Amino acid sequence: MPGITNSSLLGRPVTITGLGAYTPPKVLTNDDLAAFLDTSDEWITKRTGIRERRVAEEGLSASDLGIPAAQAALTDAGVGPEEVGLVIVATISPDRIMPATASRVAHRCGCVNAGSFDVSAGCTGFVYALAMAAGAVASGLHEHVLVVGAEAISRLLDWEDRSTAVLFGDGAGAAVVSALAAAPADPTASEVTGAGILGFDLGSDGAGEELLMIPAGGSRLPASHDTVSNRLHYMKMNGQEIYRFATRVIVSSAERVLERCGRRIEQVDLFVPHQANLRIIEAAVSKLGISEDKVYTNLQAYGNTSCASIPLCLVEARAQGRLKPGDLVLLMGFGAGLTWGACLMEWTQGTGSPSMENPDKEKS
Ligand code: ACO
Repeated sequence: MPGITNSSLLGRPVTITGLGAYTPPKVLTNDDLAAFLDTSDEWITKRTGIRERRVAEEGLSASDLGIPAAQAALTDAGVGPEEVGLVIVATISPDRIMPATASRVAHRCGCVNAGSFDVSAGCTGFVYALAMAAGAVASGLHEHVLVVGAEAISRLLDWEDRSTAVLFGDGAGAAVVSALAAAPADPTASEVTGAGILGFDLGSDGAGEELLMIPAGGSRLPASHDTVSNRLHYMKMNGQEIYRFATRVIVSSAERVLERCGRRIEQVDLFVPHQANLRIIEAAVSKLGISEDKVYTNLQAYGNTSCASIPLCLVEARAQGRLKPGDLVLLMGFGAGLTWGACLMEWTQGTGSPSMENPDKEKS
């Protein structure tokens, strides 16, 4: 199979055997936001590309969105919940500070034989979690790892702050990571179906920790009357600095993972960047020199769903026939921390079912 000899991932070959996604039905359009914020559809669309986003109904948390996505991914993979050895939830909007959201997801999905933990790596969480899952399966520690990116970010937004409230949306996506040999036979695939996950580039720079953060609620600034009255439990962002950081690391991290795996950007069939802002993606894509028809975006409909954005794209891309066995796929995350992470893989799975739970939407 192509790629294995150049793989930067040691151990047995590893791949994604199942995908799933869930988005809440309630839609919040730019015009809806403009009804209570000093903003406009024109400003948001021009500066970000976002037209609408989903918002979880009151009472629902990140795990409530992650569970149906995880169940869909397990069904898609043909893997029983009891076969899963580890559940990793990547999120910036965990149900609680303690315990991990992953414990609830594992329990509700029936993963009775699995360990579980959360990954906190900003919007890069899904790529980080994928790297941990790939390493665990490649080494033989586990046969199947369930990776879930689940976000109820609407709960952490200051709905009086137009600079952040317009950017984010709720949703969840999930992937089952398995040994390549364990991948179910794909009747639609040709003989060569790809080598699976080839390698990663992960990085972080804590010098930028205050550029994107929720200041209070942790041990550095515990919750108090003051923190609540000063709105310090909501997300704060220096948008312009994050913009500069993102356009820089997308390029450098993508180039590093390609070099590590012995591939060139021209060989990439599908580029799936974290869906933060269309202008960030367009700037990075032009610097990378990848053609636009190979870039997947859906932030127009979902906004920035943080750790859920990459698996949401994968599910849609596959349903649209843009993700085929043998395709070279580049995933790229970036976010708070600051953190970034790239994953290069050859897709191995069949076209599968759409696995997008709840495709319907309802107006707010
Ligand atoms: N509606 C209308 N006007 C607005 C809005 C809004 N929603 N938000 C800001 N403005 C105003 C500002 O107040 C400012 O007004 P002023 O000129 O009178 O002072 C003006 O628009 C320009 O503001 P800028 O901040 O300079 O706008 P910019 O072009 O930088 O766009 C944006 C802002 C979209 C946030 C941009 O900086 C950006 O995309 N940054 C990256 C953000 C991001 O992707 N974050 C997440 C990445 S990591 C993760 O996913 C967690």
